[in-house]
Amino acid sequence: MILSIISAIANNNEIGMKNELLWNLPIDMKHFRETTSGHPVIMGQKTFESLGVSPDGTLGKPLPNRRNIVLTLDKDFKREEVEVYYSIGELEKELNETMGKEEEAFIIGGGQIYKLFIDKADRLYITHVDASFPDADTLFPAIDQTKWKIISEDRHEKDEKNIYDCNFIIYERIGK
Ligand SMILES: NC(=O)c1ccc[n+]([C@@H]2O[C@H](COP(=O)([O-])OP(=O)(O)OC[C@H]3O[C@@H](n4cnc5c(N)ncnc54)[C@H](OP(=O)(O)O)[C@@H]3O)[C@@H](O)[C@H]2O)c1
Repeated sequence: MILSIISAIANNNEIGMKNELLWNLPIDMKHFRETTSGHPVIMGQKTFESLGVSPDGTLGKPLPNRRNIVLTLDKDFKREEVEVYYSIGELEKELNETMGKEEEAFIIGGGQIYKLFIDKADRLYITHVDASFPDADTLFPAIDQTKWKIISEDRHEKDEKNIYDCNFIIYERIGK
């Protein structure tokens, strides 16, 4: 299995505030959807709960066309159409058993879950958003440039729908 992280981060690694994103960037939503569709997505309970409301009224709505996997420490947390794991060990065992070597799974956030996985991931798909958010309460962990090499880069200038410049970078772990 190839384990990848996908995130959009601002100039000081800001990724969220009050359990919401810091921006509305349709170009990044499209990039996220196209990159992760058809692949398992792994997220923390808080990020899951930020994804809308399910028809039964509970917080959180599974992303379509993807195996939705949620990590939480809350043993009572269960949701329709979502696989829930209560420890990383349990999750890793399941992924190793159910996924082929070439298949890719994506860690999609948030801050706590990125921190748990950044030293385990093979690739980082980072949208660098050229903006600063001093009030952000959730950060992406520092990307150690001695451990990661850039394998692709795609700059997009701001426009009428996307109010910040973005740079879509894929990093691969050095030595992989
Ligand atoms: N910009 C982006 O690309 C992006 C992407 C995703 C999310 N976000 C933002 O990030 C924020 C949410 O991030 P967050 O850090 O607050 O929460 P999170 O990472 O989404 O979820 C944290 C959850 O993981 C659980 N957890 C922590 N350690 C664990 C472990 N070892 N095993 C199992 N479960 C564990 C926590 O349990 P406890 O509650 O019991 O500690 C909590 O329920 C929101 O603002 C969201 O919008 C941004």
